[in-house]
Amino acid sequence: MPDVKRLSLGVLVSGRGTNLQAILDGCEKGEIPASVKVVISNRPRAMALERARRKNVPAYCIRPKDYGKWPECRPLYEKEVVKVLRSYCVDLVVLAGYDRLVGPDILDAFPNRVINIHPALLPSFPGLNAQKQALDYGVKVAGATVFFVDLSVDGGPIIIQESCKVHEDDTVETLSQRILEIEHKILPQAITLIAQGRTKIEGRRVRILPEPKNSPKNEV
Ligand code: GRF
Repeated sequence: MPDVKRLSLGVLVSGRGTNLQAILDGCEKGEIPASVKVVISNRPRAMALERARRKNVPAYCIRPKDYGKWPECRPLYEKEVVKVLRSYCVDLVVLAGYDRLVGPDILDAFPNRVINIHPALLPSFPGLNAQKQALDYGVKVAGATVFFVDLSVDGGPIIIQESCKVHEDDTVETLSQRILEIEHKILPQAITLIAQGRTKIEGRRVRILPEPKNSPKNEV
């Protein structure tokens, strides 16, 4: 039996939470060697909070505006987020549709332990409305990226990417849906790779180490 550490996850969310759902389901089915210890939303009405509660996962709303005006409030707000993450002994922070830029307080508390999913093939189309950016640009291939978060906007070392074709009749909605299906696959895969100790950051590159021999089905 290889030594796969079950990771304790803290998931930061802002909205409907389908990526969170994919993680919760993957953990429950034993497909991801991890468990979600806590979910934190910066928005009180996020559907993601409901999804967490349905699985009996502690779910908190921490609102930046309770700590002052953005971005000046970020240090105080993030210290509170870190306090909650630490209280659940989280070892990996997953941004799953979290709509704020992460600052030094969270990154210093979890060095190389914060990952994010972006609905584009980075470094193309960082920032907001990535799927619309891709369509407007006229690319023929789109996709999603999971990466380690640093202080840049969607510029950290890339863990996994997967592509899909852009169809002639695609709208932002149809393309977003195709990309979302990829997101639900590669975010759990990235968490699994990290749990298996198979990601090694070398500068900008994340080396994916081979699966240990004689491991039982570590499907990645
Ligand atoms: C996803 O497309 C994610 O890539 C982006 O925001 C969306 C969140 O969707 N950052 P959900 O809340 O996980 O359903």
